[in-house]
Amino acid sequence: MQRLQARTFLVTGSTAGIGEATARALAAEGARVVLAARRKDRLAALAKELPGSQTVELDVRDSAACERALAGLALDGAVINAGLGRGLGSIAEGNVDEWNEMLDTNVKGVLHTLHAILPGLLARGKGDLVLLGSVAGRQVYPGGNVYCASKHAVRAIYESLRVDLAGKNVRVTTVDPGMVLTDFSITRFRGDRERAAKVYEGMTPLAPSDVADAILYALTRPPHVNVGEIVLWPTDQASTTSVTRRK
Ligand SMILES: NC(=O)c1ccc[n+]([C@@H]2O[C@H](COP(=O)([O-])OP(=O)(O)OC[C@H]3O[C@@H](n4cnc5c(N)ncnc54)[C@H](OP(=O)(O)O)[C@@H]3O)[C@@H](O)[C@H]2O)c1
Repeated sequence: MQRLQARTFLVTGSTAGIGEATARALAAEGARVVLAARRKDRLAALAKELPGSQTVELDVRDSAACERALAGLALDGAVINAGLGRGLGSIAEGNVDEWNEMLDTNVKGVLHTLHAILPGLLARGKGDLVLLGSVAGRQVYPGGNVYCASKHAVRAIYESLRVDLAGKNVRVTTVDPGMVLTDFSITRFRGDRERAAKVYEGMTPLAPSDVADAILYALTRPPHVNVGEIVLWPTDQASTTSVTRRK
């Protein structure tokens, strides 16, 4: 098992949900964490709790901002997690602005982040990259079209990194969860908490800390072991379209 003490990891989207849980888990193992997201107040509050952490106020959709903020960091690895869903419905009735927001964040944001940090990892001759995919990158579900397309793209980026980085001593992992109880659905339904709560009605979703555990497992394997793909389902979810709900 590798220890994370004194290693530095970037976590994008660390102001909430899976990213925040991952930042906390990494810090608890002694890692230094670079917290990146847009909400400055939340970044500052979390940084106060995590010794040795630093903050980067960043919108991953902005490629120039990613270069400015991330290219100079001395990183041992990154958890590339920032992402969101917007809306649920048919393509015919879809909202183009929402599609752009999802694709710009979930696909181009991942690429902007990678473009900024990869030269540093390659120069140091080793590193760890963990992408937050989703089971939506493996299966679609009704109305999920563009979000699912964005996560299928993340899967393609994961596979591309593996072949492009072969021989470079950079490990690449995709962690693909099913339903996780975070602000994801509240964001997707623009603050409609009642509708968001219905998503998890009668079933037990994953907690953000369950996903953070999986990420920690990948990062702490010995150097010759690259955990490739972790698919993490709630026991109550058999597929993207099959959820067991109890009354
Ligand atoms: N929840 C689920 O069921 C689930 C399942 C599978 C995969 N995922 C994936 O897990 C990842 C994290 O989602 P979550 O469930 O933890 O949702 P969340 O609680 O809503 O957190 C999303 C995080 O992403 C950040 N973010 C969003 N847009 C950003 C931008 N343009 N620039 C920088 N940061 C941005 C947010 O920070 P700011 O708003 O402060 O910028 C926030 O910290 C996403 O990639 C999501 O697709 C979630």
